[in-house]
Amino acid sequence: MPTETVYGLAANALSGEAVAKIFAAKGRPQDNPLIVHIADFAEIYGLCPAVPEMAECLAEAFWPGPLTMIVPKGDRIPDEVSCGLDTVGVRLPSHPIARALIRESGVPLAAPSANTSGRPSTTTAAHVLRDMDGRIAAILDGGPCGVGVESTVVSLVGARPRLLRPGGVTLEQLETVLVEVEVDRALYEKIGDDVKVSAPGMKYRHYAPKAPVTVVCGDPQKAAEYIQNRADSSTGVLCFDEYRESFPTCTVKCFGSRFDLAAQAREVFDALRAFDETDVTKIYAQCPPDEGLGLAVANRIKKAAGFVVVDIK
Ligand code: TXA
Ligand code: MG
Repeated sequence: MPTETVYGLAANALSGEAVAKIFAAKGRPQDNPLIVHIADFAEIYGLCPAVPEMAECLAEAFWPGPLTMIVPKGDRIPDEVSCGLDTVGVRLPSHPIARALIRESGVPLAAPSANTSGRPSTTTAAHVLRDMDGRIAAILDGGPCGVGVESTVVSLVGARPRLLRPGGVTLEQLETVLVEVEVDRALYEKIGDDVKVSAPGMKYRHYAPKAPVTVVCGDPQKAAEYIQNRADSSTGVLCFDEYRESFPTCTVKCFGSRFDLAAQAREVFDALRAFDETDVTKIYAQCPPDEGLGLAVANRIKKAAGFVVVDIK
């Protein structure tokens, strides 16, 4: 199903058997829980025995929209959804087709992003077909997704609200409603295999094209020069629109103007995916600063690179 963030692979969230098919189709690790999508706010009371007051404030401000809240889980959610955790992620999407599908189904829908596990998320029906052809019953084509990066994931089960994944709702926006938001360090750095993470999805290699990616952060002009000094004809470059002509010997994919974070969010997964249709052997990427939607875009690019990051001063 299309959502305003990315396409989702949907199944009845109340059926363990249905949800198991999502894991099979994606090749998803069995310990990575799914988000449950609802069409009306009141449905959260049927999924969560004690809805935190903060959830009501956040819903008021950001639902329907690209925000997922981690809350205590009720008995109706099967273990296949929560992977043994006592919490569940709940989201009320704004996309009219997603909401119509949830209403028509008469049940909440569990849905991860509709990509093969490890690959960049899917923002068009063509992306979904590429990864899922032969593995799923159908695709509802709602055109390209408007936001382009996934929902922001906020945990409301600890002492303080905690940002587990930056996304379509920015940290700055969250801070207008929540006095204090803790930011998980997994957003910025690679997590060791022995560390217990707050969102199981944090520890997996993600969004990755086949060729290894190096992110070059900092002033875009200096980043471009750094890349030019290392590039050859087998190099892919993920860059801002302004630098389209700067790497004439390379395979170049642009992901929006350096000044347009919304465009970068919309285009970043399509650009990352496009490298897999080429024979580049290494990829360099420019990256926006960690502000506004830039935090989510930079997080996706850094995860695609396995946090191989060069900081240009
Ligand atoms: O925008 C989105 O959120 C999209 C669309 C389809 O709604 N869905 C999506 O799902 O991105 P997925 O499965 O690709 O990412 C869900 C993330 C994972 O990192 C997972 O570990 C985390 O949310 N998550 C889900 N349930 C959780 C829980 N109970 N506690 C902590 N993290 C959780
Ligand atoms: Mg995903």
